Amino acid sequence: MSTVLLTGASGFIGQALAVRLAADGHRLRLALRSSPSGALPDASIFRFADLDGNTDWEEALDGIEVVVHCAGRAHVMKETVDDPLGEFRRCNVDASAHLARQAALARVRRFVFVSTAKVWGEQTLPGQPFTVDTTPAPVDPYAISKFEAENALVASGADKGMETVIVRPPLVYGPGVRANFLRLMQWIVRGRPVPVVDADCRRSLVARDNLVDLLARCVDHPRAANQILPVSDGEDLPMPVLLRQLGEALGKPARMIPIPAWLLKSGARLLGRQAMAERLCASLQVDIDHTRRLLDWSPPLSVNEALARTATDFLAHYRA
Ligand SMILES: NC(=O)c1ccc[n+]([C@@H]2O[C@H](COP(=O)([O-])OP(=O)(O)OC[C@H]3O[C@@H](n4cnc5c(N)ncnc54)[C@H](OP(=O)(O)O)[C@@H]3O)[C@@H](O)[C@H]2O)c1
Repeated sequence: MSTVLLTGASGFIGQALAVRLAADGHRLRLALRSSPSGALPDASIFRFADLDGNTDWEEALDGIEVVVHCAGRAHVMKETVDDPLGEFRRCNVDASAHLARQAALARVRRFVFVSTAKVWGEQTLPGQPFTVDTTPAPVDPYAISKFEAENALVASGADKGMETVIVRPPLVYGPGVRANFLRLMQWIVRGRPVPVVDADCRRSLVARDNLVDLLARCVDHPRAANQILPVSDGEDLPMPVLLRQLGEALGKPARMIPIPAWLLKSGARLLGRQAMAERLCASLQVDIDHTRRLLDWSPPLSVNEALARTATDFLAHYRA
């Protein structure tokens, strides 16, 4: 068991990871900006003000063997800053690089970084998922900042012999999920029609429990050292199948309305939302063979089980 500093424990992934790492017997220190709404396990707490290059992490890193850096600027649905890339760089690149540098100086053994599959790009061709060997081609400011952060922390690690582990998840869902996945569940239970593009596109997703299971393995598995690890549920369902299973889990069949891809794209062009339409009509698949073989790991939950857990939690909190 290790002494672990975890950032981002007030967030969707970090909170579940904190619970799991404590249950695994690790000694935990949580670096928090704000208090989470849900329960956290017993742990020492390090308070910091903001993700940037100025935090003094010396006290937080005292006695730490492994850092898991989960905090980050993500899920910005409506951008409010003038310079999004600058803000992403401040929170995701400068802060990660600074923490990694101080961790390496403090002789931390391993630094695990929660990155994103978007580092490889926004879409894949049918039958050609992103693999660990795919050349990164990040497109949006978020993905660019995550890629730059990866590079910065690998450089810090290499300098001082600190191992780095980079995990690249696609969209994460699970109990308490927000943003588009939450909206989708709200639409389905309200019986609203859900437009489904008639193209054969598949998107890898990862259940939070599956991601947390992999991250827990990354804390101490010897073969995770200095690796980039693709992760997903390992079953990429076509959108109509995913919607059908989600509807069944919610106890309300999804009312799917097929839309020809050409129609969606031309409508979106008129509204200036081309990029969004391209994404909806495209696949984004991640091949997790490398992670499976290297770490002898399989996602513990099937998509069906994970959707059921997500839907049960949603229904428990849903007010019509
Ligand atoms: N969820 C996904 O679909 C997904 C997919 C791929 C990768 N990821 C990555 O996974 C990590 C965790 O994501 P999540 O879904 O758990 O996100 P989340 O729920 O938004 O949590 C983000 C965490 O980062 C902290 N944070 C954000 N901005 C901060 C700032 N400026 N200063 C200090 N702390 C800040 C938040 O603290 P506060 O609570 O104080 O705001 C929170 O603890 C992120 O690095 C994200 O890029 C997520």
